[in-house]
Amino acid sequence: MYSLTVAFLFASVSSSRILVIIPTPFYSHQSVFQPLWLELAQKGHQVTAVTANPLKTHLPNLKQIDLSFTYKLVYEDHKMQHVINTESNLLTLMRHVFVVMNNITTEQLNHPQVQELIKSDQEFDLMIVEVHIPAWFGFARKFKCPVIGVTSMDATNHVKRMVGNLNHPVYTHHVNLPFGDGLNFWQRVVCVLFELLDEFQTSYLLYPIQEKIIKNALNDPEINLSEIVKNLTLVFTNIIPGFNKVTTNLPSVVQLNGLQIKPPQVLPLELGQFLDGAAQGVIYFSLGSNVKSYLISEDLQQLLLQVFRDLPFRIVWKFEDEVANLPQNVKVVTWAPQQDILRHKNTKLFVTQGGIQSIEEAIRFKVPLLGFPFFGDQFYNVMRVKKLGIGTWLDFKTLDKEGLKTSILECINNQTYLANLEEIADLLDDPLTSLNRAVWWIEFVLRHRGAQHLRSPLADVPFYQYYLFDVVFFLVFIVFLTSFVLLKLMRRKVGYKKLKVQ
Ligand SMILES: *[C@@H]1O[C@H](CO)[C@@H](O)[C@H](O)[C@H]1NC(C)=O
Ligand SMILES: *[C@@H]1O[C@H](CO)[C@@H](O)[C@H](O)[C@H]1NC(C)=O
Ligand SMILES: *[C@@H]1O[C@H](CO)[C@@H](O)[C@H](O)[C@H]1NC(C)=O
Ligand SMILES: *[C@@H]1O[C@H](CO)[C@@H](O)[C@H](O)[C@H]1NC(C)=O
Repeated sequence: MYSLTVAFLFASVSSSRILVIIPTPFYSHQSVFQPLWLELAQKGHQVTAVTANPLKTHLPNLKQIDLSFTYKLVYEDHKMQHVINTESNLLTLMRHVFVVMNNITTEQLNHPQVQELIKSDQEFDLMIVEVHIPAWFGFARKFKCPVIGVTSMDATNHVKRMVGNLNHPVYTHHVNLPFGDGLNFWQRVVCVLFELLDEFQTSYLLYPIQEKIIKNALNDPEINLSEIVKNLTLVFTNIIPGFNKVTTNLPSVVQLNGLQIKPPQVLPLELGQFLDGAAQGVIYFSLGSNVKSYLISEDLQQLLLQVFRDLPFRIVWKFEDEVANLPQNVKVVTWAPQQDILRHKNTKLFVTQGGIQSIEEAIRFKVPLLGFPFFGDQFYNVMRVKKLGIGTWLDFKTLDKEGLKTSILECINNQTYLANLEEIADLLDDPLTSLNRAVWWIEFVLRHRGAQHLRSPLADVPFYQYYLFDVVFFLVFIVFLTSFVLLKLMRRKVGYKKLKVQ
């Protein structure tokens, strides 16, 4: 009987119905979670993945809803990357980002296959939802199942607060602030204001509109997103141990890393020969998928080519456009197998915009970095690169020929960078792989139907109570009151004495 029950329990977990929703049309957000939904399907779960980058796999128990049409909306219709890279006013930028987010959420929810999911009476045992587009959390009310929030970066304080993981606004400040250690007074003021601004934007500009969108889509006026997100079971984050600063985390915040790392693959023939034949070494130049080439001005392009021409190295340049007058030692590719290029023994330097996945790959394959940050967390990431001595920071706005050349040679020739990389790469030492840990946690939540015992009581504590504002106010009031009373009494006594003396 016992073994029957156990068998039944395991059977129910070994084939659960899981809905994975990763809607953001950024490749770096998708590549981290692709291996996860594939692994869940390969383990026999019934997986439905709503994604902007479906895998080219056909498993009978994996259904993928393809939202790749959103890339066109973001990059062509809304010219998002142009706004990201040219808008320097943070408030205008955020407003624009929200407009685009709300637009793509509406369009994605209108997609025929998503509509089919909405109208079906399908059931799920668990939802795994990317935290950045909150509307999708609304499905928790339809499917009435536990929810795990996931992000391809470290979670912001706002996201960690969902599971009651309260963080310090200064010592774990917002990742968009490129501050190092030992913050001065004004930097600490900026951290607090930024945290308040982030909270304000999220609560008053993003959530209400996202809530309206999902209420309409699901035809459920009772949806309260703020309430649903306070009910998350776990949050999965993606950080690089030894690179990210240490923060306080509850057991319900599960830190993963390296999910996107693929097994080595043979390079395309021509590219492979180009790398093999680089006796002096290779520089890999890629500004990622969000910084498009037309943003690199003609002047900057010419400057780069002049510097490249003078170098003894070969350069692989990931660039979407044709480049005229290409020097012999430069190869332009529109798509690059980044991990295999970084793995190649001749690769000596990675010029990057500083996305966290790119940095992780450089650390794993021990390639020094030259960072050109453009937006978001890239400034902070490149600041860390410099601080940890695994590369350096260049500003593309003030770049000159000599500066670039010196930095490239320094990064390649100074062995300190390699030694530091060795040390940090060595810290990526995990008895279980992150993929196995993630799957273990998912099945744990399935077995314990939400694992509510992990939920922190702090999820329900208002911030003034957490920061003891009321208690401090009360104590200060008592001190004032006592001092006031004592002072009054003393005055009276002194007055009485004076009276007596007279
Ligand atoms: C989203 O934006 C596109 C392009 O600007 C527009 O054609 C479409 O109507 C918008 N959709 C919604 C629901 O606002
Ligand atoms: C919170 O989650 C549990 C299951 O994990 C569910 O029973 C409950 O209804 C949820 N509450 C809200 C407000 O969504
Ligand atoms: C939604 O839930 C939050 C948190 O529980 C609550 O403060 C808010 O008043 C609710 N909103 C509505 C419209 O009920
Ligand atoms: C190499 O880099 C390290 C760290 O940036 C620096 O301290 C050292 O002086 C450099 N060595 C040379 C020879 O430039």
